[in-house]
Amino acid sequence: MSELRKIALQILSKGKGILAADESTATMTKRLNSVNIKSNETNRLIFREILFSSSSVKECIGGVILYDETLRQKTSSGKTIPDLINSSGSLAGIKVDTGAKVLAGSKEEKVTEGLDGLRERLKDYYNLGARFTKWRGVFSISDKYPSNLSISVNAHALARYAALVQEAGMVPIIEPEVLMDGGHSAEVCLKKTSEVIKRCYEELELNKVDLKGTILKPNMILPGSKSDNKISNEETAELTLRCLKDSVPSEVPGIAFLSGGQTEIEATANLNQINIKNDTNFIITYSYGRALQQSALEFWSKDISNKVGTQKIFDHRAKMCTLAAQGKWSKNLENPK
Ligand code: G3H
Repeated sequence: MSELRKIALQILSKGKGILAADESTATMTKRLNSVNIKSNETNRLIFREILFSSSSVKECIGGVILYDETLRQKTSSGKTIPDLINSSGSLAGIKVDTGAKVLAGSKEEKVTEGLDGLRERLKDYYNLGARFTKWRGVFSISDKYPSNLSISVNAHALARYAALVQEAGMVPIIEPEVLMDGGHSAEVCLKKTSEVIKRCYEELELNKVDLKGTILKPNMILPGSKSDNKISNEETAELTLRCLKDSVPSEVPGIAFLSGGQTEIEATANLNQINIKNDTNFIITYSYGRALQQSALEFWSKDISNKVGTQKIFDHRAKMCTLAAQGKWSKNLENPK
């Protein structure tokens, strides 16, 4: 088995998932300000170090995606952040795109940038301890979007990124996120997400990416956030599995979903149903940002010195997600008597 496939399986196996703690400084500032905490380097490190040193990292978290700033930080005891993550048997990853910018030619859409100088940055990240990476392309849904142009340029960038990452000895997470914003139905989300994912794999194959050493990070199939037609967890699972079977090549070892604005419980319940119904060979797990961190962040913001209390909340969420990644979660586990 190739080294890259081994890394991918180490991250995803045994119900483990990924903690997406790779918010850019601008996004992390929004998250911290929303709970009235000042966003500075120290506060960002305090919160993240609390999460990374939680006991659940060992049993639940196969990989942690970091932002450039965090990868270079040291803990209060002088360890590097990748060393702290490795000490729990987890792997450090790094977000390597430089963000989604206005797409010339279709100004309401975005193209993700960051290919310039990427080969050199990847060498640096590998030397700092990263073993996997992430690149996120974003696509919005409306009558005319995502446009052919947006699908084409973002799929191309994702594929060029993935090829460079494998050349540098790391596993690329391919994240084509079809956003939840809008009033569209789940069927429309299914059609557009499948189209986007298929185009990504056409480009990945053209760029000779070894799919066995990659991880796909897609959105689940859901109605738009402004749609009145809510669907059940079972329906979400059926549509999501239909999308994966229709658009993801079987060599891909695993799928790690983003939470994309779902609440913690919704993201857990949907992942659980997907795993109960999973009739594919893909490992299906989570790569959640907000759906793993939100409650812990709210609790921590009330007393930033309360490490134990914050970890208890994070540990609970990570355990629930890991149960869902095995189809073993149920709602009554959320509030044990
Ligand atoms: O790129 C998106 C993040 O890695 C996942 O964040 O789970 O809050 O959507 P989310």
